[in-house]
Amino acid sequence: MTDTGYGTQMVEGPLTKSAIFLVLNVAATGASGEGGSATPVESVRSVLADLEDLVKTVGFRDPRTAVSCTVGIGDRVWGSLVGPAKPAELHPFREFAGDRHTAIATPGDLLFHIRSDREDLCFELERLLLDALGAAVTVADEVSGFRYFDTRDLLGFVDGTANPIGPDLPESALVGDEDPSFSGGSYAVVQKYLHPLADWQRLTTSEQEAIMGRTKADNVELDDAESGQKSHKTLATIEDEAGEHDIVRDNMPFARPGSGEFGTYFIGYSRHLWVIERMLERMFIGDPPGLHDRLLDFSTAMTGTTFFVPSAELLGSLDDEPADEPARGGDPAPGGDPGVSPTPEPVPAQEPTADPGAAPADASLGIGSLRNPPH
Ligand code: HEM
Repeated sequence: MTDTGYGTQMVEGPLTKSAIFLVLNVAATGASGEGGSATPVESVRSVLADLEDLVKTVGFRDPRTAVSCTVGIGDRVWGSLVGPAKPAELHPFREFAGDRHTAIATPGDLLFHIRSDREDLCFELERLLLDALGAAVTVADEVSGFRYFDTRDLLGFVDGTANPIGPDLPESALVGDEDPSFSGGSYAVVQKYLHPLADWQRLTTSEQEAIMGRTKADNVELDDAESGQKSHKTLATIEDEAGEHDIVRDNMPFARPGSGEFGTYFIGYSRHLWVIERMLERMFIGDPPGLHDRLLDFSTAMTGTTFFVPSAELLGSLDDEPADEPARGGDPAPGGDPGVSPTPEPVPAQEPTADPGAAPADASLGIGSLRNPPH
């Protein structure tokens, strides 16, 4: 939390009543950039560097409502947008295919996690942001989440209880001295899950509680199973000789009851990407392998994307000359886009399956037309 109550890169920010999860792809060079105008990479870099001003524009209008925007940058565009030096663990989302369920990887170059206690301010920030980005991006996914009762997911359980607090929060969420160029940043993993709610509601409360590992009404932890099937809570607990490795979650329910859509948008921030990956492995493959997380029998992962959230300081410097920024380091690579001086690498082409212009697999993803035309 900043002294103003609003800001950028607020990995440690408070849970809010509303949030928007916006995943974008950076357009290929050529979508703009002709006739001397900015290339997509230049446009995106400039918007990211000025993001704090955009948050101020909205946040100052009601400072008590904790407006924030936290940006993550994906592996595919990291080199072009930031520079050749890369966070130690950054790579594309790692898929986990179990016997029954798969954590699929889906495209996404930029994540904007927009939060506020006021839904209209989330909307306003997203509107201004997409307006500023114009044709430099295409929309891969957009989800508006809401806080449900006492921080419950749509399965009816209190979600987020085990999040670290106090000094454990930055310790778990923020990169430290182990990767000095990127300290203060965080790895972010997002997955959009859909629930067949009627099937879940056919279970008894005690069956649901055994799957989650907590009681439903009063949110008390249940003992771990001695052997056999483990609960979600136990499979998502990562322990080694160094102790327990926590992550920070800010899951949000989303829904369109008229279309039968009920979901949980999972977002995890972590100092170490491997911790979230180990959780996914234990959930999807199972521990022991074969005994997957039974939560997945009622939750289908529709997306899966990994990002690195640079510190606010690094984000604000993206428009500087590269020589001023050791973390961004390096000269433009030979053969790089000659029109973009601080860009060491061109944006690689999307994989065929990752075509940002492709028809969305999920009807709720097809909202690219919401963007205003470029100025
Ligand atoms: C715990 C729900 C997906 C990681 C919990 C709890 C609930 C829950 C109700 C117990 C209360 C709490 O501590 O928050 C869900 C739902 C999901 C989902 C509805 C998606 C449909 C995930 C994923 C991960 C994850 C994908 C990680 C990759 C955790 C962790 C805990 C937890 C770390 C705390 C474990 C502990 O007690 O130490 N989740 N979760 N969850 N979940 Fe999930």
